[in-house]
Amino acid sequence: MKIPKKFEMLVCNGLVDEVVSQLMSGKEAEVYVVRSLGELRCAKVYKDSDHRSFSSQARYQEGRKVKNSRQARAMGKNSKFGRKELEGAWQNAEVDALQRLAAAGVRVPQIFSYAGGILLMELVTDGNGNNAPRLNDVTLTAAQALEYHRSLISQIVLMLCAGLVHGDLSEYNVLVGSDGLVIIDLPQAVNAAGNNNAASMLLRDVSNVTAYFGRFAPELIGTDYGREIWKHYASGKLSPETRLTGRFEQSSVPADVRGVMRDVESARRWHELTIGNAQKER
Ligand SMILES: Nc1ncnc2c1ncn2[C@@H]1O[C@H](COP(=O)(O)OP(=O)(O)OP(=O)(O)O)[C@@H](O)[C@H]1O
Ligand SMILES: [Mg+2]
Repeated sequence: MKIPKKFEMLVCNGLVDEVVSQLMSGKEAEVYVVRSLGELRCAKVYKDSDHRSFSSQARYQEGRKVKNSRQARAMGKNSKFGRKELEGAWQNAEVDALQRLAAAGVRVPQIFSYAGGILLMELVTDGNGNNAPRLNDVTLTAAQALEYHRSLISQIVLMLCAGLVHGDLSEYNVLVGSDGLVIIDLPQAVNAAGNNNAASMLLRDVSNVTAYFGRFAPELIGTDYGREIWKHYASGKLSPETRLTGRFEQSSVPADVRGVMRDVESARRWHELTIGNAQKER
């Protein structure tokens, strides 16, 4: 196909030889198959913030580290500079998350480069070398659904052990690659420790995948891996080896609401302090 203008820089610096086809144009990005240094790769071209919802980003941004106080102030306002900064942070968040998760052993596409608002990454393929289908596009047997569910739950645990919650995990953001499931689409990934919405996002991620696999293996419907995983995480006991049962028992001990509020406040102060120190160091 004709090379879109946005690829000029990557073509000039030799990273892209050819744009083969467009895979899709979604809410946040356009995704292409490109030939890069002789290999087929995937290029994700981010849309600029004017074409995306600004306000919905706020709850994901909470707890992310920013470069300096000017950036932080700008991002807090809906100014032109603020939008640009927020957009950069949003896009970089996907690159950061992909790097952190790959290092933690989560199966995500391998990154090749990120320049000019274009992320070049591994093209996840099926057994025939074509771009892999999304989970939503395949029909599963009950046994496959149980196996995929088990595998995604352990990926979710690995992600949380690396300090991240996907935040938009569903059958639309998991590819069925030739070597198993691959998790994609991470610009909204949240820091588990610094974001008040992290627990609810983790529960939503787990319930999305459980509901999906539950269509093929109904015994999954009654499970509650989400709250079980979060309970282990919140008590500092979650590890990739943690044995999960899918059951969650509510404690019969009355909740210590004041104690929880004290913990939340001290975590908030600690978080502000570390951001403040990081900014002073820059
Ligand atoms: N590394 C990859 N390998 C193969 N296909 C990919 C890859 N990354 C993305 N895709 C394809 O492109 C589609 C969109 O990618 P992604 O979900 O990252 O973008 P998005 O703009 O957030 O899309 P949406 O709004 O649909 O969630 C995916 O559903 C998948 O079909
Ligand atoms: Mg997506």
